[in-house]
Amino acid sequence: MSEISASQSATQDNTPITVLGLGHIGLPTALGLAELGRQVIGADDDARKVGLIRGGDPTFYEPGLAELLAKHLKSGKFQPVDDVAAAVRAGSIIFICVGTPQKANGQADLGQVEAVAQVVARNLNGYKLLVEKSTVPAITAQWLKRTIVRYNSGKASPGPGSAPVAGTIAFDVASNPEFLREGKALEDFLHPNRIVCGVESEHARDLLVNLYSPLKCPVVITNTSTAELIKHAANAFLSMKISFINMVSDLCEKVGADVSAVARGIGLDNRIGPQFLDAGIGYGGYCFPKDLRAFIHLAEEHGVDFSLLQEVEHINQSRVEMFVGKVRQAIWNLRGKTLGVLGLAFKAGTDDIREAVSLKIIETLREEGSILRLYDPQAIPNTQRVIPASEQISYCTSAYEVAQGAHALLLLTEWEEFRQLDLARLRGAMEVPVLVDGRNLYDPEAVHKAGFEYFSVGRGESKPAGTHTTTGTAVK
Ligand code: UGA
Repeated sequence: MSEISASQSATQDNTPITVLGLGHIGLPTALGLAELGRQVIGADDDARKVGLIRGGDPTFYEPGLAELLAKHLKSGKFQPVDDVAAAVRAGSIIFICVGTPQKANGQADLGQVEAVAQVVARNLNGYKLLVEKSTVPAITAQWLKRTIVRYNSGKASPGPGSAPVAGTIAFDVASNPEFLREGKALEDFLHPNRIVCGVESEHARDLLVNLYSPLKCPVVITNTSTAELIKHAANAFLSMKISFINMVSDLCEKVGADVSAVARGIGLDNRIGPQFLDAGIGYGGYCFPKDLRAFIHLAEEHGVDFSLLQEVEHINQSRVEMFVGKVRQAIWNLRGKTLGVLGLAFKAGTDDIREAVSLKIIETLREEGSILRLYDPQAIPNTQRVIPASEQISYCTSAYEVAQGAHALLLLTEWEEFRQLDLARLRGAMEVPVLVDGRNLYDPEAVHKAGFEYFSVGRGESKPAGTHTTTGTAVK
């Protein structure tokens, strides 16, 4: 492993870039590269999606993405196409950003990755650097290499790119994992903490270092397996931090301590760091649950006992019952009670509801017979597709509408819009002023002052207005 600064690299070249897959990773990556001044072809075999993107619709919500899409459709630096083979032929650096969903056993399903590798193999019209961006388990790069050789009728020879075997076309495979967070994808692309390049030739290394040269951050150069493992280890470690603080929060409730103050107290230690220590309903989304299971599977496959990660997952799954228990503790019986739900997206800043803990909570409350009034600033259309409106479920157009006649409000996503709510107005609309906060979004004193009974996570016993005491200092 070596570390260099991206800004020390050689001069920028104009190698055409192709991005395969225009989803949550591919589209921000393609537009980020266009923003760095590169000519980018973005390909997806979903012609309908490509049509929408061409018309300026990113097809999902991500702050700043629609604006950047408009900018680079206009500048001509980004060209969305649905002919994947033609896009492969046109590019010299090809990013794989297709989906890597999970199989029933938790293993990563790499079918889409193999499919695009076959397209690359059949369209190898000159040197290509094939780069894994999607999260894949260690040694996927070796499979990519084999696939390209197998499906190329003997015309391809794996790197080094600068010195192909006579009569063959050279190619390289690299791993350059993404660390983009949904809701902050563009910010993360343009201001990364680090860039990881897993390469097997100097030529591949130079191409990637050159590509990222406008970004000022450390570049970690490794082999491909190490880079692949870095991505899984990073997501597993962050998931572990969340499950850890969630258990600390349960303990805080028992002993009358404040988890926010504990998180601050330990997070100020540089060795621990303050981020990913927000206790709550647990982690969701398309990445952490899936990647953790794939990492556990990888360890099992190789005979490594990584049961620590199984416990991380187990703790996370138990957060649904923890929260529903809190709602019971707050309002007693659930059947027939009207509950207002604030937040459906798996976190703020996105309309993504995949593996959202909020949906699991809603499902449990629905089964218990509660009447649910739902609102989210961005995620209602996606939620309506999986939880249709019914006698028990209705969708509202604002938080204040959600509060109408409710016996309790449940805060499940930490949208800034919810932080800014007029609590007194909210309370005025409710049948019973109970607020159960799964994200510790509010200052307990302010909520009590507005006349609510307030139940949050790991911040001591909540009491009716006027009698509440907190332990430690609230940090939010
Ligand atoms: C995550 C990683 O943070 C990215 O670096 C990575 O690139 C991405 O997965 C991926 O593999 O593609 P993301 O899933 O967008 O990004 O969301 P996070 O911000 O990491 O949040 C994940 C979940 O953890 C959310 O449900 C969030 O509410 C929860 N969380 C996060 C907590 O419960 N507590 C915290 O302190 C932080």
